[in-house]
Amino acid sequence: MPLIDWLDKYNINIKEIDDQHKRLAEIINKFYESLQANKSDKNLNKILDDLLAESVLHFTREETIMILYKYPGYDAVKEEHDILSNELTNIFRRENENKEDKFTKIAFFLRDWLIDHIFKDDLKLGKYLKEKGVT
Ligand SMILES: [Fe+2]
Ligand SMILES: [Fe+2]
Repeated sequence: MPLIDWLDKYNINIKEIDDQHKRLAEIINKFYESLQANKSDKNLNKILDDLLAESVLHFTREETIMILYKYPGYDAVKEEHDILSNELTNIFRRENENKEDKFTKIAFFLRDWLIDHIFKDDLKLGKYLKEKGVT
């Protein structure tokens, strides 16, 4: 079973953003499957690098959209994005931990990280963009 089963309630109904969120979920699922299949550290770290790169792209895109549509919550969301990016970067640096434990914790952290991000900020942003006629 995938770590993240995509549910309808995760959609903010703005296609471009939903597609990016699904892509992030796919990478997290790939990470979890690779972990369960005992793939090498190198392999797992490569997936995490991909995830970091995709999430930077995603946050930048959301921030551009917020500026474009003059979203009033921009500052708060930008701050939240920066916190999330830092958390993501820091989790890669954790040392002195049993390898298996470390990667398992990372997998669950990532799942919560993505879902929290959507529920905390993006659903509100989606509503706002809908009112502005974005689809
Ligand atoms: Fe997002
Ligand atoms: Fe966001």
